[in-house]
Amino acid sequence: MNSYIEKVDFFKGNDPEAIAKEYGTPVYVCSEEIIRKHMHDVSQVIIKYPYTANYSVKANTNIHILKLALEEGLNCDAMSVGEIKMLEAAGFPYDRIFFIPNNVSDEEMQYAIERGIMTSLDSLSQLKQFGELNRGGKCAVRINPGVGAGHCEKVVTGGKKTKFGIAEEDIPEIFEICKEYDLTIAGINQHIGSGFMTPDPYLQAVDNLLRIALQFKDLEFIDFGGGYGIPYHKLEDDEADYPMEDFKKRLEPILDYFVDSYGKAPLFKSEPGRYCVAEGVVLLGRVHAVKQNAGHAYAGCDIGMNVLVRPSMYDSWHDVEVLRAGKVVSRDSLETITLCGNICESGDLLAKDRKLPKIEKGDLVALLDAGAYGWSMCSTYNSRPRPAEVMVMKDGSVKLIRRRETYEDLMRLF
Ligand code: LLP
Repeated sequence: MNSYIEKVDFFKGNDPEAIAKEYGTPVYVCSEEIIRKHMHDVSQVIIKYPYTANYSVKANTNIHILKLALEEGLNCDAMSVGEIKMLEAAGFPYDRIFFIPNNVSDEEMQYAIERGIMTSLDSLSQLKQFGELNRGGKCAVRINPGVGAGHCEKVVTGGKKTKFGIAEEDIPEIFEICKEYDLTIAGINQHIGSGFMTPDPYLQAVDNLLRIALQFKDLEFIDFGGGYGIPYHKLEDDEADYPMEDFKKRLEPILDYFVDSYGKAPLFKSEPGRYCVAEGVVLLGRVHAVKQNAGHAYAGCDIGMNVLVRPSMYDSWHDVEVLRAGKVVSRDSLETITLCGNICESGDLLAKDRKLPKIEKGDLVALLDAGAYGWSMCSTYNSRPRPAEVMVMKDGSVKLIRRRETYEDLMRLF
């Protein structure tokens, strides 16, 4: 593919150069249409049985994006009190929030308990803590289904090498704690990892979780977690989408078998984050320098690892398009170059030894698929204010949805 931006008409006729000039760079540009489409897709994963898709807000907590999730009928999962507060601000009622924290304090747990937010406990220790705080209460437990998957080891959250979830062999202790504190287990959940492109490990985990579910009486819900990947290698390798239709077809008989054995269908849930938002956001940056160093070509832009940490943190790949005078430069003639940021770290590389059209000082670079774990993982490292976010609306207008941080904002805490 020569250009994803052109293929999907990402900017809806707006000039990206004008957006960059008006809002400055780096700037995250979101597409209302693409995000809504992906949110709609995940709401259709299970049709035959009661089902809700919970958008996993850690991928992108911009309140305007949360409002799209609300309008598309999604529920949400939150991992922290901060994320619950973002959901409150977006207008989510508490019964549409599922709190799935990890290693939280009494105060954090209490925040959810006081608001009646369904909470999942991730260890026997946190289940006891919940019992102490809310004797006679209702909650969920996060089970480790023994299977993990993800785009790299750091994002695998199921299986033997992870801090998450309660192992199958510890389930008898769950029942003991419930008895001691008079707790009711309303649901069980899992999350095996993030960014897998084949449904096999997820289906295996669903199968395992449903087998485990038979040990729990009267479950109101079973949550299979998120993790559906997106094709980050779309430009150079024409990578295919996550096979959603095939996945749905293979999921249905597994659910049928369970519903038959359990005698009823609880509410099924999934928890996609990345799939909802990644492809609907492009990150624009300005190239400020080009140079050769010991035979290697570098282009230096204003997207540092503080703005998009995924390449330095996980060696993640983001396709890059080069824009000059508002137009995508064709990929007909390519050269090898490393695109880097403006942060004082050798690991501040966005795209290493990449085949790209010749880059000139003053060009814009567009990093694709930046909507998930992009802004939400930004930092102010090197005292750089965090970037603005804008949204290209369905009607083609462009709206500022988060202003750029200022130096005054950085000083505010002193
Ligand atoms: N549910 C739970 C309990 C999770 O921990 C996560 C992600 C999700 C759902 C959503 O997973 P998704 O559908 O987005 O794959 N920062 C990493 C990804 C970390 C994922 C953390 N948990 C990255 O940039 O690839």
